[in-house]
Amino acid sequence: MSFEQILEEKTEHCERVLCEMLPDADRLEGSDRFAEEVVRAMQYSVMAGGKRLRPLFLYETCRMYGGREELAAPFMAALEMIHNYSLVHDDMPAMDNDEYRRGRKTTWLVYGEGMAILTGDALLNYAYETALKAFDHCENASEITNCVSAMKLLARNAGVYGMVGGQCADLEAEKNPAQTSEEALTYIHKHKTACMIESGFQIGAILAGAPGSDVDKLGKIAENIGIAFQIQDDILDVIGDSEELGKLTGSDEKDGKVTYVTMHGLEKSAEDVRRMSEEALELYDSLTVSNDFLRELIVGLITRTK
Ligand code: IPE
Ligand code: IPE
Ligand code: MG
Ligand code: MG
Ligand code: MG
Repeated sequence: MSFEQILEEKTEHCERVLCEMLPDADRLEGSDRFAEEVVRAMQYSVMAGGKRLRPLFLYETCRMYGGREELAAPFMAALEMIHNYSLVHDDMPAMDNDEYRRGRKTTWLVYGEGMAILTGDALLNYAYETALKAFDHCENASEITNCVSAMKLLARNAGVYGMVGGQCADLEAEKNPAQTSEEALTYIHKHKTACMIESGFQIGAILAGAPGSDVDKLGKIAENIGIAFQIQDDILDVIGDSEELGKLTGSDEKDGKVTYVTMHGLEKSAEDVRRMSEEALELYDSLTVSNDFLRELIVGLITRTK
């Protein structure tokens, strides 16, 4: 099987795990039916496709250290739910004001702004409800300890010291783009994007009981990959193909955002994506175990077009 075929199968696997754990609007019982609209909006935003990279990273790092899928699955679904909540809110008029995501209308356009706020809230809370289900599958004390560490990381990387902090600085920078420093932009990329990617890389390894030194290295690897991922997102917002991306290009310019591209230009941005990814790969090759599929996935991200 080619790498692309394996990737497709693994992405479908992530979708299945996610789909099984998401509430189903057609199966709500009794008075829960009053919550039907928000559940439909959750399904609308989550089941619209997407690369599913964060759960994929989690699954692959768990697998490479010999971890159990029963423990990984609730965290894979939870991480993708948090990612989706961040996108639902990110697209709203008060944030990036975008109308297309994953090839269809954004959640706020279809369900209204109030329901989009609630959809994000619901996904975030349901993510923690879902991740906690991993404890039901723990078979010994060390698995419980690993799940506690994974929960801590999941929560921290999504919150004020993670993605929310990055989104905050992103909005603040939009008010004053000319005054945005390189340090501020690095903070934004690291927090709004790299933190959630770190969760994927590190939670999988933690659940599998990987050596602490490898978990630390995976954090650094994911930080580099995450920053490079956001630079590439900024590049694609300028030169990408809307149809392939599933979102309209030119969004950053419309919002007057300062991005890696406005600060450094397209050429240096592309060079830095490569340099940071190669640094990550060098460290990756020093881990105590290997996973060729994951390595190829990381290499592929350097030149991704969607
Ligand atoms: C989009 O993330 C938001 C960023 C952090 C750049 P992805 O590019 O992973 O979006 P999906 O999940 O594949 O739609
Ligand atoms: C979003 O960054 C990062 C999030 C935490 C959602 P962007 O605003 O650049 O992501 P896109 O381009 O809308 O996907
Ligand atoms: Mg944004
Ligand atoms: Mg956006
Ligand atoms: Mg973007």
